[in-house]
Formats: sequence, structure tokens, C-alpha cells
Amino acid sequence: MPSPTEQHWTPVHGEPYRPVPYRPARMARPESLARAAELRARMDERRTVRRFSPDAVPEQVVRDAVACAATAPSGAHQQPWTFVLVKDADVRRRIREAAEQEERISYDGRLGEEWLAALRPIGTDAVKTHLTDAPVLLVVFQQRYWLAEDGTKHKHYYVDESVGIAVGLLLSALHQSGLAALVHTPSPMRFLSEVLERPANEKAFAVIPVGYPADDCEVPDLVRKSLDQVLVEV
Ligand SMILES: Cc1cc2nc3c(=O)[nH]c(=O)nc-3n(C[C@H](O)[C@H](O)[C@H](O)COP(=O)(O)O)c2cc1C
Repeated sequence: MPSPTEQHWTPVHGEPYRPVPYRPARMARPESLARAAELRARMDERRTVRRFSPDAVPEQVVRDAVACAATAPSGAHQQPWTFVLVKDADVRRRIREAAEQEERISYDGRLGEEWLAALRPIGTDAVKTHLTDAPVLLVVFQQRYWLAEDGTKHKHYYVDESVGIAVGLLLSALHQSGLAALVHTPSPMRFLSEVLERPANEKAFAVIPVGYPADDCEVPDLVRKSLDQVLVEV
């Protein structure tokens, strides 16, 4: 039986295949080039922020960013995601407490030396002030399966890929709307389902604090791979 909060769903795009015309206006080449260059420069300015100002953010900007994320392509259009917007300070405090409990075990050895060495240049440790300093958290859940009205379970396909793409769109939308974010993946993340009382078909994917950088915010001096290093043209 589904847990009380588990939602049933009926795909609205059910059989049969129902095509509709799609004829977006083609963008003129100069405009296309200009927009691409502008977006590339803008995206290059995005940085992961771990020190947030407690200043409030316009919540509608966050909702719009989630709506952008929810336009992501997904395996068989199953849209296997849930975004929980956490504003309540007490809930953020409970998430921080539980996350730091797991992170202490991780940094005290659970991660292993190779992983800890990879994290050293990033400068992270088990203290997660961003979970209470940022004015809002977006907790992203993957829906591993969906439940039909009759209670039967149906598998979702390509859940990791779909939710990863949605989070990419989310980060882009937040950045382009002037907000900073961090993808935080405490491991294990089961506590998020408990604190947020999420149903059994959902598995936490990431906690994303959203806000403005603190006045004294610093980020690691990282170098991104060049285009030549990441693009192979055949
Ligand atoms: C899947 C994923 C998981 C991440 N997990 C964490 C995390 O748990 N804690 C953290 O501080 N940063 C985390 N990050 C942020 C990365 O460390 C960061 O994106 C990377 O260092 C590059 O920095 P930049 O985003 O400023 O370009 C994660 C990023 C991704 C994509």
C-alpha cells in the first residue's frame, strides 16, 4: 500500500501517439551567435557558493527556476522529479543537524583517502553552515517508480539522467536570475526523506541551498577545462 503522502499519477500523454505541429521560428544566424556568446560568458561566471547571506530571496524567482527545471527532457517523458522548497528555519536546522552527523562520519574516514584527497582543493569539511544560512533550500527527489490509480507500481526509466538534466536547468535558471546555489550531496541521504516526510517512491538526489553570496564569500580558485579539452569534433 502507498504511504499516506504517496501520490498517484496518470500520464496525460497516454496512448495513442498524438502528434501536434512544432514550427518554432528559426533564429537569424547573427542573433544566434550573439546569444550563444553572451550565454557562454554568463555561465562561466557561475560558481558554487558555500557561504550565504541570510538575506531573503524573491521566492517567485525560485519557483520560476523550478518551473524551468521541470521543462527538462526525461526518459519516456515520465518527469521523475519532486522539488521540495524548504523555507522553515526549524526544518533547515534539522536538515543541517542530520547532514552534519553523516558528514562527520564521512570526513572521519568513511569517504576513504582518495575521495578525501579529491575534496581537499575544494576546501569542504563536515560543517555545513549553508544549510541554515541560505534563506531557502531546494531538496530534489528522484521518483524511482510511479503509482497508478489502482495502486500498481510502474518503473521510471533513466531516472538518474533525467533528474541530473533537470538540476542542470535549475542551476542555470537560478544563476541567470541572479541567485547563487550549491549542489550538496550528503551521503547517505536517507534522512532527507524522513525529515521531509517524502513517500517511498522518492529518493533524495541533492540539497540545493539558494540565496545570495555572503559579503565575505570566497570560492576555491578552480580552473575549468578548456573547450579543446572537452569537445571532440569528428
Ligand atoms: C553531483 C554533484 C555533487 C556535489 N556535491 C557537493 C557536496 O556534497 N558538497 C559541496 O560542497 N559541493 C558539492 N558539489 C559542488 C562541486 O564541488 C562544484 O560544482 C565543483 O567544485 C566546481 O565548482 P563550481 O561549481 O564553482 O564551478 C557537487 C556538485 C555536483 C555536480
